[in-house]
Amino acid sequence: MTLSVIAAVADNNVIGRSGDLPWRLQADLRRFRELTVGHAVIVGRKTHESIVRRLGRPLPDRRTIVLSRRSAPFVQDGEVASSWNEAMTFVRGEDEVYVIGGAEIYTLAIPLAERFYLTRVHAVVPGDAFFPPFDRTHWRVVQQRYHPRDTANEFDVTFEDFVRARTPVRTG
Ligand SMILES: NC(=O)c1ccc[n+]([C@@H]2O[C@H](COP(=O)([O-])OP(=O)(O)OC[C@H]3O[C@@H](n4cnc5c(N)ncnc54)[C@H](OP(=O)(O)O)[C@@H]3O)[C@@H](O)[C@H]2O)c1
Repeated sequence: MTLSVIAAVADNNVIGRSGDLPWRLQADLRRFRELTVGHAVIVGRKTHESIVRRLGRPLPDRRTIVLSRRSAPFVQDGEVASSWNEAMTFVRGEDEVYVIGGAEIYTLAIPLAERFYLTRVHAVVPGDAFFPPFDRTHWRVVQQRYHPRDTANEFDVTFEDFVRARTPVRTG
C-alpha cells in the first residue's frame, strides 16, 4: 500500500479558513479528483464535515475513512477510525491511499507518507488552518506544472509531485 498526502498550501502555509477552503481553484479540484477517484481517502472529521456540507455527501467514487475519536451517530457517511493505527488496519490491501487533510491529519501523515501531491498556491491569504512544517530535503520533486490564474482559478498555482527521498535532497 502506498500512502500519499495531497494538499493545497498557500505561501503563508494557510490551507483553510472557517472550516472551508480559502480559494476557488478549479484546476486543483480537477487534479484532486483525477488522483483520488477509485482510491481510499483518509480525512479528519472536521474536513469530512465540510465536504459533506458542500456536496451533501462524502466524495463520490472514493472509499472514505474518517478519523474521529467520536463514533456514529456523531460521524455520518464514512467508516470511522478512532486512531491512525486503526485507519491503517482499515486500508490494508488498498493500492494507494490518499490523506486529504486537514491540518491535524497532515501532521500525522507527513512523516509516514511515501508520496506528496502538493499544490503551491502563490498567494498570502488569511486563514486559521495551516499545513505543518515539512522538510523539503526529505522529498524529491518528480513533476512540476505551473497553472496561471484565470476566471476559474483565483490564484497562480504550481502542482508539485514529490516522492520521499532515500537520501537528503539539496535545496536552494
Ligand atoms: N487546502 C487543503 O488542501 C485542505 C485539505 C483538507 C482540509 N483543509 C482545511 O483544513 C481545515 C480543517 O483542518 P483541521 O485541522 O481543523 O481539522 P481536521 O484535520 O480535518 O479534523 C480534525 C479532527 O480529526 C480527528 N482527529 C485528529 N487526530 C486524530 C487521531 N489521532 N485519532 C482520531 N481522530 C483524530 C478529531 O476529530 P473529533 O473531534 O471528531 O475527535 C479532530 O477534531 C478546514 O478549513 C479545511 O477546509 C484544507
